[in-house]
Amino acid sequence: MAKLPSYIVGNWKMNGSAADVAVLQAIAQAAEAHPHVDTGICPPATLIAGFAAHAGQVQIGAQDCHAKASGAHTGNLSAAMLQEAGAAYAIVGHSERRADQGETDADVAAKAEALHTAGMGAILCVGETLEERDSGHAIAIVTAQLAASLPASASGDWLSVAYEPVWAIGTGRVPVSDDIAAMHAALRATLVEKLGEAGKGVRILYGGSVNPGNATEILAIPDVGGALVGGASLKAETFVPIIAAAPR
Ligand code: PGA
Repeated sequence: MAKLPSYIVGNWKMNGSAADVAVLQAIAQAAEAHPHVDTGICPPATLIAGFAAHAGQVQIGAQDCHAKASGAHTGNLSAAMLQEAGAAYAIVGHSERRADQGETDADVAAKAEALHTAGMGAILCVGETLEERDSGHAIAIVTAQLAASLPASASGDWLSVAYEPVWAIGTGRVPVSDDIAAMHAALRATLVEKLGEAGKGVRILYGGSVNPGNATEILAIPDVGGALVGGASLKAETFVPIIAAAPR
């Protein structure tokens, strides 16, 4: 199975305005020098359409989608709606949504499946809280979360996994490299157990306080296929060096 390119995705969360298309354009211009990297930006849904026209090789994604194709779901957006606006994929199961919106593993699996049905990609997030890390059972907890969130049709041509320890998101704290390596190896084993050969081709991104200073070390860890980047993706000055740090 051919190795997929490194995948570096920025999650803007609830940040940014139309004027920030200038940031996207700066990122897109710089990304041209790194054609071997799959680069993405997930702006707020209101910016997807405006950004898609200026993204160059940067793939525009959404931060969530509804599991249903249409219906009485006030305030929600379906995968096909996001696709029509210009999104090629969406993040599902981010820990902020699992915590703030009470999304369950089953919800996350259904959302991923909805994206696949619409012909889109998915980045499926998993990760442990600080209490779970301190309990010594983080690997068992996160692999179980992945197993329960993973749609049966998952394969690397449309789905990636992002390991994001909740305590590392937006905190400046990052697990030691050995802990990232151990978690990614365990997630790979779970993917192979659930999906067989197809599980070997799913990229596993690391997310949580990735920045230009730590990206090279993190991206060199075995089975780290890229990064999901929050704060550092809001400015070209901090996101472009992370793209540049991605190994070939
Ligand atoms: P951070 O966010 O890079 O700001 O820690 C990562 C994420 O939540 O995806």
